[in-house]
Amino acid sequence: MADSNGLLAGKTGVISGALDPDSIAWALAEAAHREGARFVLTNAPVARRFGRLDELAEATGGSPVVYADATSDDELEDLFGQATDALGGPLDFVVHSIGMGMNVRKGRPYEDLKYEWYQKSLDISAVSLHRMVRAALAKDALADGGSVLAMSYIGAQRVFSEYSEMGDAKALLESIVRSFGYRLGRRGIRINAVSQSPTKTTAGGGIQGFDAMFDFAEKVAPLGNADQASCADYCVTLLSDYTRMVTMQTLYHDGGFSAMGISDALIEGMYGDVLGGDDA
Ligand SMILES: NC(=O)c1ccc[n+]([C@@H]2O[C@H](COP(=O)([O-])OP(=O)(O)OC[C@H]3O[C@@H](n4cnc5c(N)ncnc54)[C@H](O)[C@@H]3O)[C@@H](O)[C@H]2O)c1
Repeated sequence: MADSNGLLAGKTGVISGALDPDSIAWALAEAAHREGARFVLTNAPVARRFGRLDELAEATGGSPVVYADATSDDELEDLFGQATDALGGPLDFVVHSIGMGMNVRKGRPYEDLKYEWYQKSLDISAVSLHRMVRAALAKDALADGGSVLAMSYIGAQRVFSEYSEMGDAKALLESIVRSFGYRLGRRGIRINAVSQSPTKTTAGGGIQGFDAMFDFAEKVAPLGNADQASCADYCVTLLSDYTRMVTMQTLYHDGGFSAMGISDALIEGMYGDVLGGDDA
């Protein structure tokens, strides 16, 4: 883990989506704590049973935990009400690290989506970002100059066959980032999406063929796949004042994957050592 640079000293926020130590948001919360932030941790009520938020709360200096379903406007308003009370006023940052593909999880192919599940996937994975920001504004819980961050994947722009409905969800998420970014800019509030490498987490593991996506990206990206800890270090810069003029962007944190076409490692994986040494 990186040393503290006090990047978030004095800042307060809400961090969603930490379920267990593999979660991207878990690493992010640890990094935000290291950098001096105080925050409320939140997750869906069902995570009380499956998650380990209490451990993270303790490890981050006794962070308050508020359970809220990110598809419920009432629960989100309650979350932001409780967060501003607990942290003493409007928040400097909000992290959305939430995703769930119902059809993907249940192995239902894209050509035959169950629309009820599809809607739920879009609601949980994308519309919930809109709901979170709306609820924060409704409760006057976002400070001027604040930062909102959401987690995305390159499947928003390109087809990764097994990513299926989640590609649509991430495309919507990234569009909401732009649409809200325009409106939030009037108050100096910025909002960005971080497009992260395949990462071994509970949500990642729910995608069939995840290991192939992970190995493919590892072979193509010049720096290899970015892990949770490096993602967290990048994210804290986006919550800090150093990035105050960056907004409405999808920012790739993927070891260079998004700029690549074919790599030697990929060719060698398919055809063996046909290239005769490394002349890259
Ligand atoms: N793992 C990857 O390969 C990868 C790659 C790029 C982006 N992402 C994105 O990163 C984010 C975090 O995922 P992760 O990989 O850390 O997995 P994760 O399973 O640890 O986190 C997903 C979180 O979403 C929460 N959640 C689900 N439904 C919810 C609801 N209704 N209300 C509130 N919370 C709810 C879960 O409880 C969980 O904590 C997601 O947006 C995911 O799509 C993941």
